[in-house]
Amino acid sequence: MLSRLPLAALKSSGAVGASRSTLSAAGKRSASQVRFASTASSSSGAFQSLFTSRASLVSVTLFSAGSIAWYTHLYGSLPFIGEVHANSLADDGLHPGVYPWPHKGLFDTFDHASIRRGFQVYREVCAACHSLDRIAWRNLVGVSHTADEARLLAEDVEYTDGPDDAGEMFQRPGKLSDYLPPPYPNEEAARAGNGGALPPDLSLIIKARHGGADYVFSLLTGYVDPPAGVEIREGMNYNPYFPGGAISMARLLFDGLVEYEDGTPATTSQMAKDVVTFLNWAAEPELDERKRLGLKAVILFSALFAVSIGVKRFKWTPIKNRKIIYKPPVDNAL
Ligand code: HEC
Repeated sequence: MLSRLPLAALKSSGAVGASRSTLSAAGKRSASQVRFASTASSSSGAFQSLFTSRASLVSVTLFSAGSIAWYTHLYGSLPFIGEVHANSLADDGLHPGVYPWPHKGLFDTFDHASIRRGFQVYREVCAACHSLDRIAWRNLVGVSHTADEARLLAEDVEYTDGPDDAGEMFQRPGKLSDYLPPPYPNEEAARAGNGGALPPDLSLIIKARHGGADYVFSLLTGYVDPPAGVEIREGMNYNPYFPGGAISMARLLFDGLVEYEDGTPATTSQMAKDVVTFLNWAAEPELDERKRLGLKAVILFSALFAVSIGVKRFKWTPIKNRKIIYKPPVDNAL
């Protein structure tokens, strides 16, 4: 097809003035002229573009250098480039290791025995300082406890309710619908009890921290003596995983601190793993269901996709299998 194009061009150029017999010779000449003209113009164009690109290169460089200088003058640093002048790597905290959580894989669910042990650790240790606002006793039912067990746990706690007929508030034992009790009535009390630091609510802590479960596990098991040259204030503790290195929460987990009802040895790392699994469930209670639903969706949609491919091919068969043949008209002129 392409090779035919010049021929068509010849025809039209030949039509101007040239007789039919000299057409092809004239055509050849004009074709070579055209080629010459185009090479000439392209070479001069290349020269021109070289010239302009030099100039534009210089101006773009000057413009960028100017903006960078102006920006750094205004803001002191460049956007998207980390603070190059950070004082120390410890400011970001040590990066936690990567742990093989039983619920990590695409097809894995929570280890529910671990959630139950973790709840025990939370209740006996962490609940002294940390609230778990978003979890109600009823949430434990079917996850780590039976309804009766959860009801008994709830009844251990006194809740203020009311007002009654006389307009008085009264105390009553907890019900399944009650939320886990906070250790402090308000933030000020929490700070006052912890040397000014606020123990954060743990409901979403796994999602709220970079590194998630790995980070909290490393934090709980990562207390060490401060290295030489690092001063830790009175009332603070050294933990390399905590950004800055100095944390108000002291080391809490020591071997044998709790006694597990299922006989699991309560080592520091075991308790840390269990409480982190529990907190991970608290932050993502939908995890098991989400993965099951996701799997169903993948199976269903891939089946539907396969069917739709089949239907598409079926419908397109007559069109795809059609053969179109082009028979050019016989050109008597040549
Ligand atoms: C004696 C009170 C106390 C107990 C008990 C306690 N914590 Fe803390 N926790 C704190 C305080 C105070 C902070 C705030 C630390 C800070 O900001 O320096 C904190 C902070 C945290 C943080 C957030 C760290 C961060 O990155 O901001 C996590 C996670 C945490 N605690 C988990 C736990 C777990 C799990 C337990 C139970 C094993 C527990 N804590 C028991 C007082 C406590």
